Amino acid sequence: MIVADMTSNEIIKQRQGNMSKIKAFSTKMYPLTMSGEFDEINKINNDLLHVAKEFKLLFPEGSQGGKASSLIWEDRETFNLYIDNFINSIESIGISIENVDRVSLIENFNIMASNCGNCHKKFKN
Ligand code: HEC
Repeated sequence: MIVADMTSNEIIKQRQGNMSKIKAFSTKMYPLTMSGEFDEINKINNDLLHVAKEFKLLFPEGSQGGKASSLIWEDRETFNLYIDNFINSIESIGISIENVDRVSLIENFNIMASNCGNCHKKFKN
């Protein structure tokens, strides 16, 4: 994926596709956190991390549109903070997996999931 070579429509489609994947990965991960299937969760979490990092790159100037609020381009600093918090929360899940710690895994999953609504409330139309 080279954002500079993409049209704004392609960029919007791509970031919506990334978000659909983020939804699918987090939905798949949720029941696994209860049963403590660390290997399976680790695979999904790595995919989630990759797609979330890529999502951050998909808001260049001129790609306004879709359901993305224009506030993203007006206050990039805050938007980046929200994405970075989301990415950090996914990395925290990774640490729980490394430590084979089910209690902190469930806590960190819940923190990760709380980012969805927080960001949508502010930055999604
Ligand atoms: C940092 C901000 C941010 C976070 C965190 C975030 N989202 Fe989003 N999400 C957006 C924005 C912005 C859009 C609109 C993108 C567009 O239409 O261009 C969106 C769109 C979506 C969509 C619609 C995709 C489509 O096909 O149009 C879904 C589903 C979604 N998000 C689910 C989630 C879930 C589930 C989480 C948490 C696990 C999450 N999002 C976390 C900002 C965020």
